[in-house]
Amino acid sequence: MKDWWKDIVMYQIYPRSFQDSNGDGIGDLRGIINRLEYIASLGIDLIWLSPIYQSPNDDNGYDISNYYEIHPEFGTMEDFDELLEGIHARGMKLIMDLVVNHTSDEHRWFEESRKSKDNPFRDYYIWKPGVNGGPPNNWQQWFGGSAWGFDQETNEYYLHLFTKKQPDLNWENPKVRNEIHTNLKFWLDKGIDGFRMDVISLLSKQLDYPNSLSTNIHYLAEHHYANGPQIHEFINEMYENIIQYYDVMTVGEGPGITKELANLYIGKNRRELNMIFQLDHMIIDHGEGGKFDIVNFKLTDLKKILDGWEAAIGNDGWNNIFLDNHDFPRMVSRFGNDGTYRIESAKMLNTFLLTQRGTPCIYMGSEIGMTNVAFEHPHDYKDVEAKNFFNEVKSKNGDLQIALQQMHVQGRDNVRVPMQWNDSKNAGFTDQNPWIKVNPNCTSINVKESENDPDSILHYFRKLTQFRKDNEVLRKGNYTNMDPLHEQIYSYSRQFENQMMMVICNFSDEELNLPTYVHGSYVFGNYDDAQRLRPWEVKIYSVN
Ligand code: GLC
Ligand code: CA
Repeated sequence: MKDWWKDIVMYQIYPRSFQDSNGDGIGDLRGIINRLEYIASLGIDLIWLSPIYQSPNDDNGYDISNYYEIHPEFGTMEDFDELLEGIHARGMKLIMDLVVNHTSDEHRWFEESRKSKDNPFRDYYIWKPGVNGGPPNNWQQWFGGSAWGFDQETNEYYLHLFTKKQPDLNWENPKVRNEIHTNLKFWLDKGIDGFRMDVISLLSKQLDYPNSLSTNIHYLAEHHYANGPQIHEFINEMYENIIQYYDVMTVGEGPGITKELANLYIGKNRRELNMIFQLDHMIIDHGEGGKFDIVNFKLTDLKKILDGWEAAIGNDGWNNIFLDNHDFPRMVSRFGNDGTYRIESAKMLNTFLLTQRGTPCIYMGSEIGMTNVAFEHPHDYKDVEAKNFFNEVKSKNGDLQIALQQMHVQGRDNVRVPMQWNDSKNAGFTDQNPWIKVNPNCTSINVKESENDPDSILHYFRKLTQFRKDNEVLRKGNYTNMDPLHEQIYSYSRQFENQMMMVICNFSDEELNLPTYVHGSYVFGNYDDAQRLRPWEVKIYSVN
């Protein structure tokens, strides 16, 4: 069917943290295979796997040293084939992470490239001489520090928008593009159903490499890193040469893509991508100093962003709807209340995801309302971003206690702790030492417990995916925000042909009056029906 990706519910798996099957404390492909029944039981249509390729793991697999090999920690190519088969046998699909803005510095191309200025692989990466004894310009890498790595061998700098172990590929070089096309084809020929394309907006560089007026990472992304002069040419070329010949979907991660530019990437006739993961609402609480400089936000800020994207994309493109992923805090901790109203707010937020207009993407564990974690010691954190942050704080003699509190709110390890399967010592994730500590709340928040409780988030989630499948209006309907200025209620209608539904979400701890515009018959929600809107309640009405 054409555009099948508009109808699906996606589920993201971070393989390292999902299920260990062989006792080395690291999640693996066999672990996922063993959990396929569970995933199918959720009503999931498509799984997105974060990278499983060979990698030195400087950035947990987002630094790839061989695009054609499975990382031995995760298993073998045979395991992969079995996984893909198991997914298809259950009527689900699989997309892989495509990380081609950069490779690992341990990729053979880079090992060659750094050897000499006339090495045939030199132009696979971006090399520049220094300026006045320093780097070529003031660009900063994503996790702090200069974006230029000095290499003594040839006395030049290479560009790395992420860590120094993630050198950026030179997409201006047609040989690089050919290599990537071959890579795409290899996986598509195996029968996968598409790609999530990592930082796809960054492929094309500003070839004059200007100094930036600000070194704030979001400023840099929007003004210098993203939407470069040849970006559309490069993405379109992948489509024309490879993607168009397969019945697959693509979703590009789009740092620096503004809503005004969105349809250049995803517009119907653009022949580029199907969707992007826009990040405006993911940086809603980032201050001038970046993500650890945390600022408050209001519900109306969130509405402005999401409704703005919905309007900008309109009927030309298509949205992806998500509230967290492996790079951001847990949605229930950030947008809900992970204390008193954890269950209510997790149910409400999942409902929100599945009733907005667009394709929802659920991060593993959201279906049981997993929360952020608060480790006591910096050394419990494994993410390269966290390590860099703590080092920077230490080097400036900053307050580590404050830094820890910031990490508890914003750290990426909040969502990278192991999936909580049961209340045993390591949450049923592994029977040995996990690569990162489990969240101590796994004793009460876990799949086993949720299966046994008829009122759990998990059982609700299954009804919810079914409800979405049964109601075309939620998948195809137009979207209208019914009260854009309310600071506690997010309410909207969806309309398709002669059907209409109203979704009323209470984003607060307070019990509120039902808005007077509410009418129709109550069809779905996270409490029993009543004429009030209780804390974090969601109610759906059918209006005919
Ligand atoms: C993307 C990934 C993130 C990674 C970065 C560099 O933003 O989602 O996890 O660190 O790209 O590859
Ligand atoms: Ca393992």
